[in-house]
Amino acid sequence: MSRVAHPAGPLHGDVLPADHPPAPPADLNALPAAIWPRGARRGDDGVLTLAGADVRELAEQFGTPLYVCDEEDVRSRCRDYMEAFGPEARVFYAAKAFCSRAVLRWVSAEGLGVDVCTGGELETALSAGVPPEQITLHGNNKSLDELSRAISAGIGHIVADSFDEIARLAYLTDSSPGGQPPGTPRDTIQRPNILVRVTTGVEAHTHEFMATAHDDQKFGFSLASGAADEAVRRVLACPGLAFAGLHSHIGSQIFDTAGFEVAAHRVVELAVRIRDEHGVEIAELDLGGGFGIAYTGDDDAPEIKDIAESLRQIVDWQCRAAGLPRPRLTVEPGRAIVGSSMVTLYTVGTLKDVDGLRTYVSVDGGMSDNIRTALYDASYECALASRGSAAPPMLSRVVGRHCESGDIVVRHAYLPADLATGDLLAVPATGAYCRSLASNYNQVPRPAVVAVRAGADPAVIVRRETLDDLLKLDVG
Ligand SMILES: Cc1ncc(COP(=O)(O)O)c(C=O)c1O
Repeated sequence: MSRVAHPAGPLHGDVLPADHPPAPPADLNALPAAIWPRGARRGDDGVLTLAGADVRELAEQFGTPLYVCDEEDVRSRCRDYMEAFGPEARVFYAAKAFCSRAVLRWVSAEGLGVDVCTGGELETALSAGVPPEQITLHGNNKSLDELSRAISAGIGHIVADSFDEIARLAYLTDSSPGGQPPGTPRDTIQRPNILVRVTTGVEAHTHEFMATAHDDQKFGFSLASGAADEAVRRVLACPGLAFAGLHSHIGSQIFDTAGFEVAAHRVVELAVRIRDEHGVEIAELDLGGGFGIAYTGDDDAPEIKDIAESLRQIVDWQCRAAGLPRPRLTVEPGRAIVGSSMVTLYTVGTLKDVDGLRTYVSVDGGMSDNIRTALYDASYECALASRGSAAPPMLSRVVGRHCESGDIVVRHAYLPADLATGDLLAVPATGAYCRSLASNYNQVPRPAVVAVRAGADPAVIVRRETLDDLLKLDVG
């Protein structure tokens, strides 16, 4: 195995595999603002508090692993987005990032709409009291039942993703005699607003985008093949459907606007063809989500006001150049609204020195509550939360309790060398795509989510699953 010397490595000053850990931070007790919730502090005793709540008390009261969500962090990020995009645009929270009634109520109260991609997310939003007209339904395989429910609930927009789906929508909204689906009284059928999702051929990742490669995927209608033009033709041909505009989503964890620029350019070209062919000017342009956040101190996520300004300019410029009135712009941030608002608290269990390499720190959760490290090789940081420590940094790997060697929570962590069983660790930036991607692997119940707010008692917003819950599902 090739090995690299790591002069700062605390473990016997030894050599490490070529799995380059970063240099240890100057201060192990620091809470870099970019990755911790806005309400995170360390008290004089070094204990982490979240919106004033002492993590030791949270762990005591609610158990670990525990997702702790800083309500004001979520709300303030909603306000940042609303302010950055201004009253002419719309901001829809992508519920897939984390879908709970409480969070949907908060974002809705802050003026955001909600975008959902399954019947389950739709029911959660409706039951949270999100106004139906403020809901957009996505998804590449919406069933007839899901579409029917969306239409009868009167949701604001449905994003058409395939020709099959346009046919399903046409069937559901067919008001000709005998055209309605069984059980749907004709007078309850509403004319849903349809956005056509286009695949622009832009694949965007953090710091990088490829301008050609990504037509080969399951979402949307390809611009390059002409499928998007045909989809618009078919929607316009359905009397029961109201063609509202175009949708594009180019990826996730995007740190610059270059990909949006190319995508907007291509979508506006389609809008021009639609005007020329059908005499219809698009009213809505939804550029999706994907705005990146910092997971580690090395990530330099852009300010949302800069992204908003840049997107507005791109759309303005493209439309002016094409002689089109500017459509209403919508964006759909998920991660950027909830990602930094949550911290996962774990209790340290086994500590194992793997000589010359690092210390493996096993915690009481793992890939069942945060699959992102295993799935995307995502990077996280973590900190000792239940006390401060002046001990030197110890190169560690925080691993879970599951039967997979890939069950890693934090690949490279510097933790104080006096870390001990029973200490609490906090992993920040776990608000998005952690609880929502959680599983019961190894029959491990999924953790609770507790909301904290200054001046209020912590409140469970998603209760912890119990073994009993799991056993009840097993009816064999
Ligand atoms: C259509 C659509 N909109 C919005 C999002 C939200 O993305 P993010 O959470 O990265 O902002 C996604 C994520 O996959 C998506 O597919």
